[in-house]
Amino acid sequence: FVEGPLSGKHVLVTSGPTHEPIDPVRYIANRSSGAQGTAIATALRDLGARVTFVTGPADVPPPAGVDVVRVQTAQQMLDATLAALPADVAVMAAAVADWRVENASGSKMKKDASGAAPVLSFAENPDILKTVAQGTTRPRLVVGFAAETDDVTAHATAKRGRKGCDWIVANDVSPATGIMGGSENSVTLITDAGAEDWPRLSKAETARRLAVRIAEALR
Ligand code: C5P
Repeated sequence: FVEGPLSGKHVLVTSGPTHEPIDPVRYIANRSSGAQGTAIATALRDLGARVTFVTGPADVPPPAGVDVVRVQTAQQMLDATLAALPADVAVMAAAVADWRVENASGSKMKKDASGAAPVLSFAENPDILKTVAQGTTRPRLVVGFAAETDDVTAHATAKRGRKGCDWIVANDVSPATGIMGGSENSVTLITDAGAEDWPRLSKAETARRLAVRIAEALR
């Protein structure tokens, strides 16, 4: 570990999408490259933290020097997250699928000769952020994310209350922003003191600023 303001601290980071199987070869998922979560884990590591990085199937490789736990589904992500506690800080950057396919098939579904399309039914996935923020082994600082396409600050502020987390990092993921899958981000940090608009920065710089804020909050 490098020496830094987060030396001796354990930080849990969730990142990437989850994949919810339809059958062995098909799934539903959220759009998430895992780039911002990976950058955050990197920045926290660079400030000296011991990082547990729970990641769904992301487009970018996980950082070196962190404990990587690879998962596919939301249920697996919840189990891995709870197994990683206790932690001083949790940063929940994963784009968790809200629903899983309740009638997933154990074998590959075949096209029906009659042309009938399959009907999927969905069950709600556990809310990992809420479980951690309202759980008994609650980290001192719990940070959630909010990807919104309109009224970003209002929705994210409401989400902070609903989830019971300390901070929300909100971003506008409207297609026109190019943020989804891109290398830059433009976030609003929601804390108990209100909303702070950060400038458009690289995801790496956004992550470094967030890591510094986390270190300050723990001081
Ligand atoms: O409710 P929504 O998905 O918009 O909330 C986003 C925040 O909640 C993110 O921090 C995300 O990682 C977390 N989340 C979660 N488990 C879910 C859904 C969202 O941890 N099932």
